[in-house]
Amino acid sequence: MASQSLRQLKSFVADREKSKQYIKWLMHYTSPFKFRIGGMMAVRLFMTYISIYAALISRQLVDTASQGKTEATVYLIFAGVMIAQLVIQVCLDLASAMINEKYSFGIRKQVYDKLLCSVWIGTQRFHTGDMMTRMTSDAGNIANGMVNVIPDIIILLVQLVSVFVTLFYFSPVLAISALFLTPIGVVLSWVLGRILKRYQVKVQETETAYRSFIQESLANLLVVKAFNGEEHFSERLTELRENRFYWVWKKNKLGAATSFVMNGTFSLGYMLAFLYAATQIAKGNITYGTLTLFITLFSRIQSPIVALVSKFSGAVSILASAGRVMEIQAIPLEERREIAEMSGAVGVEISDLSFAYDRALIGAGSKKTEIENTSNDVLSHVSLKINPGEFVAVMGKSGIGKTTLVRILLYFLQTDRGNIVYRDINGHEAHVNGAVRSFISYVPQGNTLFSGTIRENLLLGKGDATEEEMEEALRIADCLDFLKDLPDGLETRVGEKGVGLSEGQAQRLAIARAVIRKSPFIILDESTSALDEDTEKQVMQGICALNPRPTCLLVTHRKSVLNYCDREIVISNKSITE
Ligand SMILES: Nc1ncnc2c1ncn2[C@@H]1O[C@H](COP(=O)(O)OP(=O)(O)OP(=O)(O)O)[C@@H](O)[C@H]1O
Ligand SMILES: [Mg+2]
Repeated sequence: MASQSLRQLKSFVADREKSKQYIKWLMHYTSPFKFRIGGMMAVRLFMTYISIYAALISRQLVDTASQGKTEATVYLIFAGVMIAQLVIQVCLDLASAMINEKYSFGIRKQVYDKLLCSVWIGTQRFHTGDMMTRMTSDAGNIANGMVNVIPDIIILLVQLVSVFVTLFYFSPVLAISALFLTPIGVVLSWVLGRILKRYQVKVQETETAYRSFIQESLANLLVVKAFNGEEHFSERLTELRENRFYWVWKKNKLGAATSFVMNGTFSLGYMLAFLYAATQIAKGNITYGTLTLFITLFSRIQSPIVALVSKFSGAVSILASAGRVMEIQAIPLEERREIAEMSGAVGVEISDLSFAYDRALIGAGSKKTEIENTSNDVLSHVSLKINPGEFVAVMGKSGIGKTTLVRILLYFLQTDRGNIVYRDINGHEAHVNGAVRSFISYVPQGNTLFSGTIRENLLLGKGDATEEEMEEALRIADCLDFLKDLPDGLETRVGEKGVGLSEGQAQRLAIARAVIRKSPFIILDESTSALDEDTEKQVMQGICALNPRPTCLLVTHRKSVLNYCDREIVISNKSITE
């Protein structure tokens, strides 16, 4: 019993600590917008006073009318105030839409930029669909919350106080009785806020599952169809939708129940106020104008209270979204240091290197409990020296750690066990860090082309490549042959992951994209696996003839590639043998 209360207390304190962090983070993000949001709030407050003023004028209007008189100026002022309210409202709506858009884009951009510079393995923990949901839906939620909901709350509070003071001036009894909704409102907001925050997290999680599923199945439509998975996938989507619907529905039901309670109480109060005012009229205590004023002001006290309840719980759900965005923001940045300018070919020396994915994940911000695969070292106490200009083949069984070694050399994976130093022919040194990629060209395993034209794909290798440079790279990678047959040549559009090209054509294009950089160090990860013998020979001869000769690390399963290499190393049993 005692331990349960202790646990509850702990989770309450942890929750509060987290909320504090989330609020700090939100403040930080909002600070560039504070003047714009503040300006909008000032105009909206001004609107509140205009509307109180309109209520006072309407009182005067009704009173003069009931005495059988009409005052043209009062009518004019009344109409003027109404029109001003309409115009200001339109301007406010436009301003709010603009700030909202800029704010949410600001979050998306910052998160996107951060992800680009974060430790790669840390980003791999999240499904791309999940990251998308956090960057779009959650970011939108935060933007709406900070630009609209929070200012709404502040304005509603100010409105409440101002209208209360005005009504109190005319009728203290009515003013105080109008507040009778407050305790209900406060309790409801508190309880609702806590429940809604939980629901909001669930809604966003189910949204993530739903989006990730759609994205992944559409990207692999071929596989779905090949395995006759149409029906199964369709059913799975329905299941995911139902799961999402369950939480959305729960959230909405809670909202509806609250508004029923609040509005019910509100109507009751309104009726009582009306009765009270009517008896005051009957006794001749007040005028008809004052009656109008009472009724108007009374409802203007109660409606902010009702609105505050729903806004407050909305504000709490911003915290849920902030937490989700913060999680991807928390992936640490990759280390990038200034490195010496490398000249000529560059070699590398690996000494006593050990690597395990679980350690790397923990280093990238994962909690121990989140890691399912607690594998042991993939590489253990590995040492290797590759001299500048050497062509080295890396072989070994599938799943043994070849790609892992490549990723470590490129600093996509980090380890604190061991040392990696790049050295050029002039003795310039660079310890491994994110910046070494500036002198390494990499052809990753698998199809890694982007949708767009072939030219755009090549330019990713070197943004300012000339036509001659492009042609040379395409010649080395033996692409000219198939390009010749494409009616649009370099302007041919390919789809996601190079759809429209054959696997082997895509591989050659990926090689051209790397070669065009003219880097002193090239890493090819099974980059000729889809090529026929002749084409492979062409490509390998092209790479061997590169001038100046780079250092080249070729991961391969093919013996034929060995003909072009100076040395062969084999990864087995977590270590490297020559
Ligand atoms: N992101 C990851 N998280 C955890 N373990 C991983 C991850 N990527 C790879 N591994 C594991 O690391 C080991 C080595 O994988 P790696 O991709 O380096 O193999 P490989 O030698 O390149 O194989 P292949 O020849 O099939 O490409 C495998 O056992 C694999 O399960
Ligand atoms: Mg591999």
